[in-house]
Amino acid sequence: MENTSQETQSFQQNQDIGQGRGVYISTYGCQMNVNDTERMHSLLEMQNFTPVENPEDASLIIINSCSVREKPVHKVYSEVGTFRKMKDKNPNLKIGVGGCVGQQEKENLIKNQPMIDFVFGTDQIDNLPQMVAKAFEGERRQINAKFEHRAPYHIETMVRNPGVATFVNITKGCDNFCTFCVVPYTRGREKSRPLQHILTDIRHLVKRGVKEVTLLGQNVNSYKAEEGLDFADLLAKVATDTDIERIRYTTSHPKDFNQKLADTMAAHQDKIMEYVHLPFQSGNTRILDRMNRNYTREHYLEKIAMLKKTIPNLVLSTDIIVGFPGETEEEFRDTVTLVEEVGFETIFAFKYSPRPFTKAAKFEDQVDEDVKTERLNRLFDAHDKMAFDLVKRYEGQTMRVLVEQADREFGKIQGRSTSNKLVHFLGSADLIGKTVDVKITKAFPATFRGELV
Ligand code: SAH
Ligand code: SF4
Ligand code: F3S
Repeated sequence: MENTSQETQSFQQNQDIGQGRGVYISTYGCQMNVNDTERMHSLLEMQNFTPVENPEDASLIIINSCSVREKPVHKVYSEVGTFRKMKDKNPNLKIGVGGCVGQQEKENLIKNQPMIDFVFGTDQIDNLPQMVAKAFEGERRQINAKFEHRAPYHIETMVRNPGVATFVNITKGCDNFCTFCVVPYTRGREKSRPLQHILTDIRHLVKRGVKEVTLLGQNVNSYKAEEGLDFADLLAKVATDTDIERIRYTTSHPKDFNQKLADTMAAHQDKIMEYVHLPFQSGNTRILDRMNRNYTREHYLEKIAMLKKTIPNLVLSTDIIVGFPGETEEEFRDTVTLVEEVGFETIFAFKYSPRPFTKAAKFEDQVDEDVKTERLNRLFDAHDKMAFDLVKRYEGQTMRVLVEQADREFGKIQGRSTSNKLVHFLGSADLIGKTVDVKITKAFPATFRGELV
């Protein structure tokens, strides 16, 4: 009995720890981190913390970090520097680092930056309230970065104000071990959520007014439900067994993209968006092999041809790495020609950045930074030359746009077409959450301007 009352008391303290205290969370990296930040805010709100816009108003600062390339890691360290100065002035300020740098660096972070009060890994978000409570009770240097290797992946979506479009995790982690990528080390082994949990989540979101969900994972198309169902089956179930109006997903891996998935998208085109983000990374087969991507240039092109045939209005985007170790000028040109051949309207391209633990970081033939920069610029130039002309064909077309929010420009609203293009147009905020027809008046590669039909 006594034990229980002690527990109740400590739960009470836990709950009130945020009373009169502001929390600021700074978020880097991919959509997983954005989702994780939402989860942290939801958990901290249960402890009565108030989210604040300005770190200066916070009693608790959390950096939700990314380590996919060196740049975001630098940003984390520079932010830690800024917050250290704030802590010098206000010793009661608590600072925590979570996300992929937290997972990767663990105790090193606190060793190098002793002003950090706690570090937590990507599998430890649900323990944040306890860590925060202990930090305010005076406990320093907490490190909580274990992976829950064995536990099943049960994680109900937590969003405070889901709005019109929101994200739902379906898998976590990654088992692909591309030789350049840190994610398998920072997010752990791949796990899928039970299919029924995902459907229940989406039904709840629909009740809260959500019209569109993006199914999220590092490699969604290797999703496996316990019942032996795969990602295509999940998509079909979300389309038929929930009232969600639109479905998107990201990211898919070329090696796992099959005809069944394309057929499922085509069969449910009323709901599943005609858009696929399919990273190819390099257009050269030798480099792809060294990246451990498990497909060749030809295989990739075959998948694209299959997709375009099955879904005629399909819009594609991709991720690319230039200057991977050993990449020659000729091999780089294969990347440029692949972009041109597929006709990507949007590309996300990066200079190769050596990451801790990864195989490619140890390859001896690293490419000079200047060469990488020059290749990246050339790739963007080649893409610009093509993409602005490519999207002209949309001008004059009418698109179904789901209105998401008011635009920064007065009197305008914005939303997404069924092909995931951001469309800005004049209209009333009453239309938020509705799907309307918009005629495209001006098309740029990633955004369109239009007028309400
Ligand atoms: N799971 C996704 C990608 C996650 S990381 C996939 O497999 O497609 C997002 C992108 O960052 C990658 O597609 C890749 O283009 C880029 N990236 C990852 N590691 C990188 C590195 N070491 N250097 C440069 N870019 C990298
Ligand atoms: Fe990284 Fe490759 Fe996994 Fe994507 S598939 S997260 S690039 S290891
Ligand atoms: Fe970055 Fe981690 Fe996402 S490394 S891209 S935040 S999975």
